[in-house]
Amino acid sequence: MKGIVFTQFLDMVEEQFGLETVDHIIEGSDLPSGGAYTAVGTYSHKEIVSLVGALSEHSGVEVPVLLKAFGKYLFVCLNKAYPAFRNSATDAFSFLETVETYIHVEVRKLYPDAELPSFECSRPNNPDELHMVYTSSRHFEDLCEGLIAGCLEEFNCDATISREQLNSGKELFIMNK
Ligand code: HEM
Repeated sequence: MKGIVFTQFLDMVEEQFGLETVDHIIEGSDLPSGGAYTAVGTYSHKEIVSLVGALSEHSGVEVPVLLKAFGKYLFVCLNKAYPAFRNSATDAFSFLETVETYIHVEVRKLYPDAELPSFECSRPNNPDELHMVYTSSRHFEDLCEGLIAGCLEEFNCDATISREQLNSGKELFIMNK
């Protein structure tokens, strides 16, 4: 997983819980990197799982709640870092549809070792209902929900997000305006 994800996570923890909590969770997690991340480095995605687990223990906030909050925070940061993607979409649903076909394609060109999920998007019932089937061996469904929520907020889109686990084990996200 790219270092930008870790540096943003630790920034969020520092802002919301303070620097002492950052030190505490780094010390309390078993991190092969030792907790020293650079934005362009690559680290095991298990380190983010350890850090979120340690933050949950320390703060009493459940892991899924922390991951969703982090997803929202991460979206704001990614959107600032790569404004061209935001500017090429007219609304939240069309933006979400380009994550698979354009955004993550460009991300992979920049970082060939990026570990990206895949999405199958459709609007099977009407234009105001977007379906996204998320596939990733890392199973960051909660992070994904936070990223989607951050995107809806960015575009002032008043849609609900619901989730369903498919028989295949993949996660279906349904956004309804
Ligand atoms: C400005 C828009 C976006 C940019 C620049 C971007 C870029 C990235 C980058 C750099 C990573 C880390 C890859 C790695 O660590 O190796 C990532 C991961 C991820 N992205 Fe995006 N992304 C964007 C929007 C979104 C949106 C809107 C979603 C949700 C629909 C999304 C879903 C994910 C997920 C779930 C991961 C975690 C990896 C996994 O699940 O396997 N991204 N993205």
